[in-house]
Amino acid sequence: VKGSNGVDQIVLRNSQGASAKVSLHGGQVVSWRNDRGEELLFASSKANSKASKAIRGGIPICFPQFGNCGSLEQHGFARNKIWIVEENPPSLPSKDSRGKSFIDLLLKPTEEDLKCWPHSFELRLRVCLGMDGNLTLISRVRNTNAKPFSFSFAYHSYLSVSDISEVRVEGLETMDYLDNLCQKERFTEQGDAITFEAEFERVYISSPNCVAVLDHERKRTYVLKKEGLPDVVVWNPWEKKSKSMADLGAHEYRQMVCVDGAAIEKPVTLKPGEEWTGRLEIIVVPSSFCSKN
Ligand code: BG6
Repeated sequence: VKGSNGVDQIVLRNSQGASAKVSLHGGQVVSWRNDRGEELLFASSKANSKASKAIRGGIPICFPQFGNCGSLEQHGFARNKIWIVEENPPSLPSKDSRGKSFIDLLLKPTEEDLKCWPHSFELRLRVCLGMDGNLTLISRVRNTNAKPFSFSFAYHSYLSVSDISEVRVEGLETMDYLDNLCQKERFTEQGDAITFEAEFERVYISSPNCVAVLDHERKRTYVLKKEGLPDVVVWNPWEKKSKSMADLGAHEYRQMVCVDGAAIEKPVTLKPGEEWTGRLEIIVVPSSFCSKN
């Protein structure tokens, strides 16, 4: 199908009626619905429909830079590029295909990309929709260069919530974090789950591989399980910042929270020929269950 920005999207479906939509623009998952047809990812009503910009919502891929502390455009260029479908990618473990509906995408740098980031690479993304409706994203970065390079990475996941005041994030208690992306000073989270009452922008360093986002009103919990992604970004722009964002409605910050599996604090370094894998699985359950798994 064609997205509103004119770029092709691939729709994955499972036999229970759940679905996921992936745009070739950025390799971005732009929609994920459960078997009742309820949208699980936030998408802004004012999302930019220009083909050159990432859509405000879904799961943009931030690569090879997160934030704007490096020399590249904010969150890197991968989310603004047109990816291609790869028919026969190098194989992955069978758990990443068995019983699942999936699509493989590929991004390679253009001449223009090599001018601002002079490292040749292959970035592969598999998006899987499981029989149970779970969404899994597997990214692989291969260094096809003659020299090593380093990068940051994030699955910038915009989760849809009833109201931000109803949300708790569990699993990051007692973790160290960087407040504000470019600051180096570390703070330590206190013992309680995270709740929101102002702008929030933190990178939790070397956090546990299971984080839960509880939405009390909807009685829905997102469980994020990550591999190869040591950090977790938690972001909500709140009222003032969202007013400065043209592609976010005035009160829409209340209906979203970004909780990203990421590799930011220690960039990943790959030698020539080496490959890195970062995997994120999102499960939706009626209540929290990280501790039981
Ligand atoms: C967040 C950053 O992860 O992404 C914010 O912490 C940033 O600083 C936000 O504003 C959205 O970025 P962008 O480039 O998609 O507007």
